[in-house]
Amino acid sequence: MERTAGELVRLAYEAQKRSYSPYSGFATGAALETADGQIFLGCNVENAAYSPTNCAERTAFFKAVSEGARSFMRIAIVGNRANEAGNYCPPCGVCRQVMREFCDPEHFEVLLAKSPQDYRIVLLKDLLPESFGPEHLEEV
Ligand code: THU
Repeated sequence: MERTAGELVRLAYEAQKRSYSPYSGFATGAALETADGQIFLGCNVENAAYSPTNCAERTAFFKAVSEGARSFMRIAIVGNRANEAGNYCPPCGVCRQVMREFCDPEHFEVLLAKSPQDYRIVLLKDLLPESFGPEHLEEV
């Protein structure tokens, strides 16, 4: 049975509970769905030296790719400070580029949620237009 978008959003909120974000206080979560229906969860993992911080989306992608997954359908993303109302949490530029490495920009869906019931769906091509990808390095 197919998973609904709302279910994927709820899984992103589950992932957010594991956020390690003592410096920003901004907890993020992501749920990445593969073409064959597997789910990889990710949260942000911050660091005292700041720049080694990893976003929730990249955590999910790196977990998935390192486990052998290569084909992805969509990702749900959530993020907010504790005790603050949720707002849409668009992926940072680095995460967009990581998505571009593994996903078809015309079809890959990014679900931005501000609550389990309130989300919108955007395509990767609209988040990262005119993008550079693996095909640009192919030999002719
Ligand atoms: N963050 C994410 O996890 N994903 C994004 O796309 C935007 C930012 C994290 C990084 C950092 O831990 C915190 O949110 C504040 O920037």
